[in-house]
Amino acid sequence: MLDKRGRTIDYLRVSLTDRCNLRCVYCMPEKGIEKKCHDDILRFEEVEKIITACAALGIKKVRFTGGEPLLLKGIDKLIRHTAAIDSINDISLTTNGILLYDMAEDLKKAGLRRVNISLDTLNADKFKKITRSGDINKVLKAIEKCIELKMVPVKINVVLMKGINDDEIEDFINMTLDKPIQVRFIELMPIGEGLKYYEACKMKVEDILEKLPKLIPVKDDSKVASVYKIPGAKGTVGLISPVSCKFCSDCNRIRLTSTGTIKPCLHSLEEINLKPYLNDEKKLTEIISDAVYNKPQEHHLENENKSDTDRMMFQIGG
Ligand code: GTP
Ligand code: 5AD
Ligand code: SF4
Repeated sequence: MLDKRGRTIDYLRVSLTDRCNLRCVYCMPEKGIEKKCHDDILRFEEVEKIITACAALGIKKVRFTGGEPLLLKGIDKLIRHTAAIDSINDISLTTNGILLYDMAEDLKKAGLRRVNISLDTLNADKFKKITRSGDINKVLKAIEKCIELKMVPVKINVVLMKGINDDEIEDFINMTLDKPIQVRFIELMPIGEGLKYYEACKMKVEDILEKLPKLIPVKDDSKVASVYKIPGAKGTVGLISPVSCKFCSDCNRIRLTSTGTIKPCLHSLEEINLKPYLNDEKKLTEIISDAVYNKPQEHHLENENKSDTDRMMFQIGG
């Protein structure tokens, strides 16, 4: 699928729920969120229908996100269904890793190729503070398990925040020395709860390079990360700069929300409701390809210091 700016759109990010078992300070309100009515959330059969329609239109890569996608019972069946679609060649998951250790083997058998795990600190106490609840050992065990299962590279997403975890940059980078992982430092974005931390904690991830001359660039086909490594290391380091060095001109993605809308751009307000068309394959295909064609050109975070979307990050899934 091409949009009207000539970008090829072949990547669908599917947010399966806005629920999460953590409460990361820059993402979820402390009190949690109001539970959605069951009927408002797409059922797996409906998600499958939409993925099938998107695949027929040229989507080749599907990523499941949340909230926390592993809270959903039966996610392995959804992955198996997606893996059975011939033209889809990359199925991945973005997770906080808390439930992953016990599920990884079944997910891999179902067809999951890769996981991106969010982990903002290597310190157990700090992890409890940032997530307001979690046990870091569960995440560390899950990372090892995924490496053992050869779901590599396991990508570790670190949202970089001044005064919170910028003292751990070297520790994270050193993890890549003997593990087939990609540690990715992500700029905090001014969206949802992130707005409360943005001014005090924002950092340019590219500045890491000045302090760490031993990182050398490596070739990688990622649309969002510039990738580096320490010579001889097993893993790599990715820098994701959605604010200071935005990648919109190369954007290849659209999103499906758990409430059944297509969100053509992470930061734009616009959403297209697919629910009325779920029983009309032709119309569904038309609406999706229209939504893609009209995908917004870019976000304006760098000027406005805030996202245009009225959704919070846990309702979009990154
Ligand atoms: P790969 O398939 O491994 O390349 O994954 P990915 O980088 O597409 O997915 P992931 O869920 O790991 O996203 C990493 C981070 O990039 C997210 O947490 C967001 O902060 C940011 N991000 C992802 N997609 C977008 C996007 O479309 N726009 C912007 N501005 N930021 C994004
Ligand atoms: N800025 C950047 N990344 C964010 N994430 C959540 N909120 C923000 C934000 N404000 C990240 C999570 C996870 C991914 C899905 O999105 O840490 O890695
Ligand atoms: Fe694509 Fe919008 Fe993200 Fe820019 S902000 S990279 S256009 S989804």
